[in-house]
Amino acid sequence: MDKKKVWFITGASKGLGLSLVNQLLKAGQFVAGTSRNIAALTSGVNAPTEKFLALTVDLANDKSVEDAIKATVTKFGKIDVVINNAGYGIGGSIEELTDTETRTAFDVNVFGTLNVIRHAMPYLRKQRSGHIINIASIAGIAGATGWSVYAAAKSAVIALSEVLAEDVKDFGVKVTAVAPGAFRTSFLKAESLELAKNPIQDYEAVRNTHDRYLKMDGTQTGDPEKAAAAMIALVAMPEPPLHLLLGQDALDRANTKIQSLEKEFQNWKAITISTGFDY
Ligand SMILES: NC(=O)c1ccc[n+]([C@@H]2O[C@H](COP(=O)([O-])OP(=O)(O)OC[C@H]3O[C@@H](n4cnc5c(N)ncnc54)[C@H](OP(=O)(O)O)[C@@H]3O)[C@@H](O)[C@H]2O)c1
Repeated sequence: MDKKKVWFITGASKGLGLSLVNQLLKAGQFVAGTSRNIAALTSGVNAPTEKFLALTVDLANDKSVEDAIKATVTKFGKIDVVINNAGYGIGGSIEELTDTETRTAFDVNVFGTLNVIRHAMPYLRKQRSGHIINIASIAGIAGATGWSVYAAAKSAVIALSEVLAEDVKDFGVKVTAVAPGAFRTSFLKAESLELAKNPIQDYEAVRNTHDRYLKMDGTQTGDPEKAAAAMIALVAMPEPPLHLLLGQDALDRANTKIQSLEKEFQNWKAITISTGFDY
């Protein structure tokens, strides 16, 4: 990577976020990383202070995000790349998850992303360049049993990225929605993952899926260092993708979803096209 860019990365104290921060600093880039836990963030990063800015941010709080973006521009003079990485999995059927559990998941996974984009865009728009990378999930394309709220939140991230890309392309700003499969981070650990606090016995299939996911912890096929490298490489590309799947599992799930959508649309076509006015 030749050109020194300024990167703003959320959820940087562990997992994909920490891999991104460390690879970028190693490559001589300027990085602002956000976390709820500044001590964990600074202990995971070994970099000179002129290159790295550690920020305590409450992503669900618009003012907190605004201050973090301003602090980044004050320190480094600009922002080139925004990576909305912070997020967590939330498991449970819709009736098992409370309004608070559901809204909090959207606060972090969706509204945090919107807050960052809202406050970064004025700088990117003015400089007529930039790249916003939103980390969604394959769950946002092909959700799995027992993860409805997580699927909805990540689906929202993909949808908002698609329209954002259209809205900001005239300003020279690029957008990529990344949909990883299973990667070996803290994602499935109790410190990150939320499961419904009031499970209902009847939801046997939901419990079985959660058990299966929890058992996967530590054996996920995806390597977070390779995922971070792949995302960093996007930024140097003249025409990066709007959607990027990461992992063979993500590709398989996406292909299955596309095939089933095509089949269903085709099977129900007669009703679909029967709803216009008869002229
Ligand atoms: N690993 C996977 O299998 C996988 C698959 C698909 C998508 N993803 C997505 O990839 C992104 C990174 O996850 P990861 O795999 O690196 O997991 P991770 O190791 O658990 O790291 C998640 C990061 O997100 C932040 N975060 C988690 N819960 C938060 C909350 N309630 N409020 C604010 N920040 C919170 C944390 O930031 P702090 O520094 O504040 O702790 C943490 O650094 C997430 O958006 C996740 O949904 C992961």
